This record gives sequence, C-alpha cells and structure tokens, in this order.
Amino acid sequence: MAEAAARSLRGPRCLLWALLCAGSWSLISAQTPQVIQVPENHSVNLPCKAIAGQGTPSRLEWKFEGSGNREFVYYHDQLTDNYKNRAEFHLNEIYLKSATRQDSGKYTCQVVGDSGLSESVVDLIVQVPPSKPKAEVPSSVTIGNRAVLSCVETDGSPPPTFKWYRNDILIPTDPKTNTLFQNSSYTLDSKTGVLTFEPATAFDAGDYACEADNQVGTSQKSEAVRMEPSEVNVGGIVAAVVVLLIVFGLAAFGIWFAYSRGFFKRRDTTNKKVIYSQPSTRSDGEFKQTSSFLV
Ligand SMILES: *[C@@H]1O[C@H](CO)[C@@H](O)[C@H](O)[C@H]1NC(C)=O
Ligand SMILES: *[C@@H]1O[C@H](CO)[C@@H](O)[C@H](O)[C@H]1NC(C)=O
Repeated sequence: MAEAAARSLRGPRCLLWALLCAGSWSLISAQTPQVIQVPENHSVNLPCKAIAGQGTPSRLEWKFEGSGNREFVYYHDQLTDNYKNRAEFHLNEIYLKSATRQDSGKYTCQVVGDSGLSESVVDLIVQVPPSKPKAEVPSSVTIGNRAVLSCVETDGSPPPTFKWYRNDILIPTDPKTNTLFQNSSYTLDSKTGVLTFEPATAFDAGDYACEADNQVGTSQKSEAVRMEPSEVNVGGIVAAVVVLLIVFGLAAFGIWFAYSRGFFKRRDTTNKKVIYSQPSTRSDGEFKQTSSFLV
C-alpha cells in the first residue's frame, strides 16, 4: 500500500522528467522478492536491499507475513517481542539465529531516507523434509465410476511433489508410456498428489502407495493401501428386491389372516373390559358419559 502511494506520487513527475524516474524504478525493481532457502534450525541473514542510497534512514521497519499471521519484526527502532531474543538487527539486514518452520514467509523492509520511501522483500523458505505421507484410497470403488486417490503430507517445505506406485511399480504420468498401465485411464497431478481414475477398471486393482519429495532430506513413502474395484452387483440388487417383496407379501397376508379371524376385535373387547372396570369411584353421570363414548 505504501509503495503504491509512493508510486502515485512519483507517477506524474515520471511522465515529465524521465531522468527523475530512476528513484521510482529502483523502488519498483526492489519489489521483486529475493528468495532465500535455509534448512530448519539454521541461522539466516535477511538482507534489506531498500537501504541502498537512503543514507541514514529517518525510518526503518521490518514486517513479516506468514501463513495466517502478520507482525512487525522491527518497529520503533527495536526488535519486537517475538524476535528480540532470537534475532539481531543490523542496518542492512536481520539475522535470525535459528529459523523455525513458522518463520517461512515474506519479510518486507521499508525505509524512509534520502530518496523517499523504498521497500525490499525477502521470501524465506525454511526447509523441512516431508513427513511420511498418507495414501487416501476410497474403501469402495465401482468399475466404470470415478475413483479419486490422494496423497496427504503436511510438513514438507517447500511443498513436496508426489509420485504414486501400484504394487511397488512407479505409475507413469501418462498411462500409454508403460504397457502395464495401458488399460488404465487416469490423471496424475504431481503437485497436488491427486490420482484420479476415470473410469476405474478391473485392471486398476492393486496396492497403492505414494511418495513425497521436496529435495530436502530423503523422500518419504506411504504405507500401501489396497484398491479393489468391483462390479455393480445387479444380481444382488434383484435378489434384495425379490426378498423385500416376499416379506411385504407375507406381512400383508398375516395382517389379513389375523383380521379375518377376528383377532383385532377380540383385543378391542379386552381393552373395553379394563376401562369399564375402572370408574368405580366416579359418579353415575361421569360413568354414563364414559360408557356412551365407548359404545
Ligand atoms: C528443528 O528443531 C526442532 C526442535 O528441536 C525439531 O523438532 C525439528 O525436527 C528440527 N528440524 C529439523 C529439520 O531437523
Ligand atoms: C489389457 O487388456 C487386454 C485386453 O483385455 C489384456 O489382454 C491385457 O492383459 C491387459 N493388460 C494388462 C497389463 O492388464
């Protein structure tokens, strides 16, 4: 936002005085983030490129934006609480003594000095090896339908890429490149780890495992999970319907039989007897009402 404001201030001047644009251009080019990778628990320097040509800055601030949080690193000429014990401030850089995975994110150094406002950005990737991924395979897959398998891994930084194996054989990205998979129809997204069979066939049965790799530490392979595509069981459905019809038929017959033998009537008279015997303490009026209601 601040850099946008600075640009709009300089914009008209730039149109007229090409030579004066140098400051503006350096501001824009400084916005291209510098990417720095560091293994977790190692120290790292985050350079402030924006300091160049600013003399002794009248203001210097560092901001951090991670996944879900934003905070100042350096503000009002001092490191903020979260950083003062684990970082050092130098005019041209911030030194993190031991970077943790939560430190991955965007660091912006904002400087106000001789040539106005300038900013520079460092994208810090704290490298974390992948943990053992989980192969998520649908428990029931029907031949002819879609089946979506996913590989889930949450620690790896930078985000890992994924491979899949069927019966310990690497599944090629393109099924046509391996005769073992030429009867299969699937897409494999190595970035998301999603393997989609469309449609699943009997040839796709097997033990599926996935592997996550981000070039940090060793790649990690999941446990294998069985996938067994099955036919829609038409015979079973027909049998179930027939059994249901027989049950309904028997029930209907039973009710009709009981009714025709007066079973329900007899139960009614039993109920009445009980009710008749109750109102012994009531007055005659009440009793009459009750009996007339029932008869
Ligand atoms: C860094 O240190 C923490 C705490 O000691 C540990 O849990 C973590 O696994 C370490 N990271 C790496 C990549 O070794
Ligand atoms: C592919 O399908 C053909 C024809 O159904 C079959 O003969 C062959 O064995 C299948 N290949 C594989 C690898 O399953």
